[in-house]
Amino acid sequence: MTISVAETVALDIERKAIKHCARRNRLHSWLTWIYCGMFLMSFASFYAFWYTDTFSDYVLAQMKLRNGSRAFDWWQHPPIKIEYRIHLFNYTNVKEFEAGAARKLRVQELGPYVYRETKNRVNVVMHENDTVTFQEERSYEWIGGRPENDIVVMPNMPLLFATAFVRDLSFTVRFVTNTVLSTLQERAFISETVGGFLWGYDTRLFHIAKPLIMLERDIPFDKFGLLVTVRIISQKDFQYEQLSFFHKCV
Ligand SMILES: *[C@@H]1O[C@H](CO)[C@@H](O)[C@H](O)[C@H]1NC(C)=O
Ligand SMILES: *[C@@H]1O[C@H](CO)[C@@H](O)[C@H](O)[C@H]1NC(C)=O
Ligand SMILES: *[C@@H]1O[C@H](CO)[C@@H](O)[C@H](O)[C@H]1NC(C)=O
Repeated sequence: MTISVAETVALDIERKAIKHCARRNRLHSWLTWIYCGMFLMSFASFYAFWYTDTFSDYVLAQMKLRNGSRAFDWWQHPPIKIEYRIHLFNYTNVKEFEAGAARKLRVQELGPYVYRETKNRVNVVMHENDTVTFQEERSYEWIGGRPENDIVVMPNMPLLFATAFVRDLSFTVRFVTNTVLSTLQERAFISETVGGFLWGYDTRLFHIAKPLIMLERDIPFDKFGLLVTVRIISQKDFQYEQLSFFHKCV
């Protein structure tokens, strides 16, 4: 009797142990399946992310440019502004150099002149065929550093360009150019405000040369400046295939 009780107890314990084991085994196999599933899923997303367009298509679809949407607003007036810190060299002994009193030109570094760039997309036209054409307009605003009305002495860039341009041309062209230059009394160095140097100053040489250069390519500005080309509205129309934030260029 006592034995049979003990046996039942033992059996009971054994049964419990087996059940526990089975549960553990089932748990194990569940865990294995879950791990496998997770692995497959992450592999699939990894594959989709790196080897297919699924994600970028999704993102593109989310960022369609619709008139009035925030994405459109950000696209048209990007909230990120770039800052430029510009340093210039001021030539401090040009008079002595030109008079022959100094053998080397001395320069003094000035700056920074800090400008902020604002980019806008203008003349935006949405077409029926899901394309958009627009022009880019960049403008620069002085926001700090040294004042842009500092007077500096710098090489006369149009003159340098002109002389470099004709250097390898025929004798006649060089002769004519030199005559024109000496008639104009263009100086090799000119003094100008920093703002003028960067964004455009008047030089007679530029006005004279402009129609000639225009024969080769369009110059859409009427003053000469080191950075003037980036200031104006871009002349060419941009056209993009998809009306989306990350557009593909046509
Ligand atoms: C630049 O150099 C000239 C002399 O060549 C001087 O008169 C002028 O004050 C200098 N500019 C600045 C901003 O220091
Ligand atoms: C966007 O909508 C506004 C107001 O309806 C309109 O004035 C503007 O021209 C539209 N812009 C474009 C690019 O279609
Ligand atoms: C879309 O339409 C515009 C205006 O109708 C046209 O200039 C442009 O070439 C077209 N673009 C494409 C990709 O068909």
